[in-house]
Amino acid sequence: MGLMGLKTAVVYWSNTGNTKKVAEAVKQGLEDAGHEPTILRVEEAEGVDYADYDLFCLGFPSYEWHTPKPVTDYLRRNLVKHRKMGLVKTGSPRVPGKHALIFCTYSGPHTGLNEATPAVKYAGQFFEHIGFDVAAEWCILAEFHGWEEGSTKGRMGDIRGKPTEEDLEKVREDTRRLASSLRDT
Ligand SMILES: Cc1cc2nc3c(=O)[nH]c(=O)nc-3n(C[C@H](O)[C@H](O)[C@H](O)COP(=O)(O)O)c2cc1C
Repeated sequence: MGLMGLKTAVVYWSNTGNTKKVAEAVKQGLEDAGHEPTILRVEEAEGVDYADYDLFCLGFPSYEWHTPKPVTDYLRRNLVKHRKMGLVKTGSPRVPGKHALIFCTYSGPHTGLNEATPAVKYAGQFFEHIGFDVAAEWCILAEFHGWEEGSTKGRMGDIRGKPTEEDLEKVREDTRRLASSLRDT
């Protein structure tokens, strides 16, 4: 399949807006690379099966170092369906041309990056189980809205105002580069 023909989507869940900002930057990066992504909140993605996409971008905040419930439910619903369809094979052989980008916003007030890594790894497994390549896993530091102490005195220091415009510009550029580099691999 040609690069321009890649079917791409950005699906995300966001409560206080951090992940939404990153999702929009990811969408822009995909557009910069010449794609025409669908962008949806996970609540709107009921019938959207990530198995149908060539590059599927999933974003969420870390909630107790896990995916938030609406995201977990979405992934698990698809897993049940994928098992029925026979897509979850022993050894999880790679399906060429299928890629996922997982991005997670987090505030890391207690243990820093370790609070985001498990959520990202967990989500990635749903894709790897059906033969996707997890092309990137991004943990993006973001202000803990509504908890001043968590945004100023946590493991990551003063994170108020994050993600900044500069952080978002980097997400956009990294996404453009990633999406441009994908071929039939
Ligand atoms: C209920 C709840 C649980 C959270 N748990 C964690 C956590 O375990 N680790 C962490 O780093 N941040 C945690 N956070 C902070 C959020 O992950 C972070 O602020 C995120 O960027 C919020 O994304 P959103 O604005 O898209 O909703 C939590 C926030 C809430 C509201």
